Amino acid sequence: MNVSIIGTGYVGTVTGACFAELGHNVVCVDIDSEKVRQMNEGIPPIHEEGLPELLKKHAGSGLRATSDYSDAISDSDATFICVGTPSDENGSIDLSIVRSASESIGRALAEREIGGDADRYHVVVVKSTVVPGTTDEVVAPIIREKSGDASTVGIAMNPEFLREGKAVYDFMNPDKIVIGGDSRARDTVARLYEKIACEITLTDTRTAEMIKYANNSFLATKISFANEIGNICKRLGIDVYEVMSAVGKDFRISEHFLNAGAGFGGSCFPKDVKALIGRARELGYDPLLLNATIRVNEEQPMRMIELLADRIQEIRGRRIAVLGLAFKNETDDIREARSIPVIGELLNRGATVAAYDPLATENMRKVFPDVLYCDSAKDALAGADACLIMTEWAEFGSLDQEFEEMLDVVVIDGRRMVSLDSDRGVYEGICW
Ligand SMILES: NC(=O)c1ccc[n+]([C@@H]2O[C@H](COP(=O)([O-])OP(=O)(O)OC[C@H]3O[C@@H](n4cnc5c(N)ncnc54)[C@H](O)[C@@H]3O)[C@@H](O)[C@H]2O)c1
Repeated sequence: MNVSIIGTGYVGTVTGACFAELGHNVVCVDIDSEKVRQMNEGIPPIHEEGLPELLKKHAGSGLRATSDYSDAISDSDATFICVGTPSDENGSIDLSIVRSASESIGRALAEREIGGDADRYHVVVVKSTVVPGTTDEVVAPIIREKSGDASTVGIAMNPEFLREGKAVYDFMNPDKIVIGGDSRARDTVARLYEKIACEITLTDTRTAEMIKYANNSFLATKISFANEIGNICKRLGIDVYEVMSAVGKDFRISEHFLNAGAGFGGSCFPKDVKALIGRARELGYDPLLLNATIRVNEEQPMRMIELLADRIQEIRGRRIAVLGLAFKNETDDIREARSIPVIGELLNRGATVAAYDPLATENMRKVFPDVLYCDSAKDALAGADACLIMTEWAEFGSLDQEFEEMLDVVVIDGRRMVSLDSDRGVYEGICW
């Protein structure tokens, strides 16, 4: 089938490359001409395991990119909206990019009609995470209006559940595929996934939208729950990892997402939980549990600072090594990374921050130009008064030699990466 993908960020690039791998002809659209150029040259605009190989294989044959909506849509059977859905100033969802992309798609569909391909069925699929009601009440009316009420245009909602860092694997090996819409629209989208062995949940668009929010809200709540138990364990001198390892053996709970630490970040959990809170409030319900999930998460990074202050007393004028900037390992994505509030607070309190991350330095440099960015953990630790571990990069698990470079070996661990003998320095786990 012929597929167009709108937005070549994390979701769009992976979706486009994977659909090409499944044998479809894919055209990606982005307003960012640099991303379009990179895609056409087979260079991934984002870091993602397995993506360079797929782009190299398909760029120029089954996969190309453009900034021209008509060029992409004129000959396609399905158009996936994969643009960002950020939070507005109140935390509610900002749909302006989805609206603008929908307008452009509608206009391209109208041109297709004039061009004589009016009988060809086309489905517009919302893959961006949008609050329940958006596909039917925002996207569909725009597409209808701009396309001149094209009768052969269907609308569907197909939420994405991939994990950054494992996105290609997750797309090809999903736990679930959810498709919302009327039966013709759903069947068209389902055909695109034919080669993937996975049960498909077919439903209406609002339920599909809600499944994505319920999924992410539950995972975020699980992490905040583990952090809350961890904060209590810390005061009791109990190892929360031992506790959660046993708790996770209960099949009703499962072992995943029970790692206590400095909290969750990324482009999805914080914004999606806040968007659901915002939508619930619009409907007259203030969600108690979701509010608490966010509150625990916002306070957690400051516990790193409290532990540091307890250990070194004066933060002003000290050199603090921050190891890990990305919101998690195996990605260069720093959106909502827990390192951001921590670095902000360290700078506010007059520390010199020496930071190291294997992938995310260039992204963080745009947020904090005044941080000293280092090429290795060893360089960041050299002469440091203390070290904070903010991301679970595997290399941080074997820094015994590098810690010797510090002025004083004081390690505050936000990700359970280090096991340091007590006679070699001070070690504090955030929740253990
Ligand atoms: N990142 C994830 O792990 C993930 C996982 C599941 C779902 N989602 C959801 O998928 C959506 C996209 O997320 P992302 O992380 O890929 O976003 P992103 O910000 O990485 O990418 C969005 C892309 O859209 C492009 N764009 C903006 N306006 C455009 C327009 N009018 N026309 C064409 N392109 C335009 C941008 O240049 C950018 O390349 C969001 O709703 C997000 O919540 C993300």
